[in-house]
Amino acid sequence: MNILILQGSPRANGNTAWMAEEYRKAAEATGHTVTLVDVAHKKIAGCMACEYCHGKGNGACIQKDDMQELYPLLAEAEVLVLAAPIYYFTMSAQIQAPIQRIYNMNKPGKLKKAAMLLSSYSPNVYDGAIGEYHGILNYWGVEDTGIVTAKIDEQKTDATRAKILDLVKSL
Ligand SMILES: Cc1cc2nc3c(=O)[nH]c(=O)nc-3n(C[C@H](O)[C@H](O)[C@H](O)COP(=O)(O)O)c2cc1C
Repeated sequence: MNILILQGSPRANGNTAWMAEEYRKAAEATGHTVTLVDVAHKKIAGCMACEYCHGKGNGACIQKDDMQELYPLLAEAEVLVLAAPIYYFTMSAQIQAPIQRIYNMNKPGKLKKAAMLLSSYSPNVYDGAIGEYHGILNYWGVEDTGIVTAKIDEQKTDATRAKILDLVKSL
């Protein structure tokens, strides 16, 4: 399948980046086509709610920032993987902006499945991120293939790598 991973931590060698990379390696090893985008180091602004996309823009976003690189990738993606650190009980701002900029597409046209990778310091801090993820998937009619979380003592471990491998196997 054609998989797009959005990595939303500003820490290039951090735990979210590690989880995203493990997912990429496992998916490529099983024959999938994977694009991993480090959205935290892109210039992507929030949606302006100008409604240009639903009017004169005919589906195009008026903001000409790095989101323009993502739109063709989203249009081709069959699987979307959201990889994010937990900041204040939800996904980081760096990944919220590109998610909310999908507003112009309504739903990425070929998307069938999704997965989520979350990293945090503490346990039991995932409800906000998971609630948002499930809400979006229900809205789009996209299947959830699973969620892997890693709190401080679960980061960069063989056990977390095995959970990510299982997630890829469930595609
Ligand atoms: C601004 C900020 C807010 C955070 N908020 C939370 C939080 O609410 N709960 C939590 O468990 N960890 C929180 N953390 C810790 C990160 O989620 C944790 O260190 C995570 O593993 C970072 O992922 P990374 O290594 O990919 O950057 C926060 C970190 C930052 C920088």
